Amino acid sequence: MPSELSRARRAARFLLRRVRMRPRIAVILGSGLGAFAGRLQDRVRIPFDQIPGFPRPTAPGHAGVASFGVLRSGRMRTIPVAVLEGRPHLYEGYSAGEVVLPVRVLAQMGVRTLILSNAAGGLSRRFPAGRLAVVRDHINLQGTNPLRGQREEFGPHFLDMTAAYSPALRRLARAQARHLDIPLGEGVYAGVLGPVYETPAEIAFLRRIGADLVGMSTVQETIAARQMGMEVLAISVVTNLAAGLSKRKLTHEEVLAKAADASEKLGRLLESVIVRIADS
Ligand code: HPA
Repeated sequence: MPSELSRARRAARFLLRRVRMRPRIAVILGSGLGAFAGRLQDRVRIPFDQIPGFPRPTAPGHAGVASFGVLRSGRMRTIPVAVLEGRPHLYEGYSAGEVVLPVRVLAQMGVRTLILSNAAGGLSRRFPAGRLAVVRDHINLQGTNPLRGQREEFGPHFLDMTAAYSPALRRLARAQARHLDIPLGEGVYAGVLGPVYETPAEIAFLRRIGADLVGMSTVQETIAARQMGMEVLAISVVTNLAAGLSKRKLTHEEVLAKAADASEKLGRLLESVIVRIADS
């Protein structure tokens, strides 16, 4: 078995040969949230199964394509951006190391700012379906960690997680959302293993421990990104009120449908945040 470091380097070398640009900013799009990728110009699309060592997402709603393209900045410069449409999840059976491989590949390619998006359940009426919310902090309830068993190949093992989600990027996202008139909440994301949705008792527990949002991704990627010194912004798209908070039964189809409804709004916000990051 090649080490995780050599696997990440190999995939990064492959991608850098295929695309001539050197993006400093990357976006990972969660379930049903692919619309942003359509905003890129001069786009090169590479399916995950062509990238050596890349895990293939198997969940419906996850395209499994890496897109590289440009956005135009306010000053009419071009901003190269990497976009992963789809991600591997622990609930598909992937290890934490496999789940974060794409993030490590992006870091090896020179990406310094990572923007994560996800579909999430809202844990109170402050986070209704359709609302976007910035992740302020997370609670890792996934029972694993991508740094487990490593020998500091990617960075410090005992990693400080005090400001894992960049306060400056959170401020920027809030400012851009105000500017675009997009309501934007902010809250704590509880990362759970899945694939089942929570029981009402579990949701009552998550509320008590201070979570506002619940989902099955993001926390492993944030840990890996922070280990490599990337700045992280995460935005949840609330697709449903969590179990027990409404009478509706949860289905993956409904989660995908709600995510698709909010995808255009998320795309607009992401573009304006990225342009601001590039112009600053
Ligand atoms: N729970 C966990 N993950 C989710 C949910 C939820 O209610 N909605 C979207 N992803």
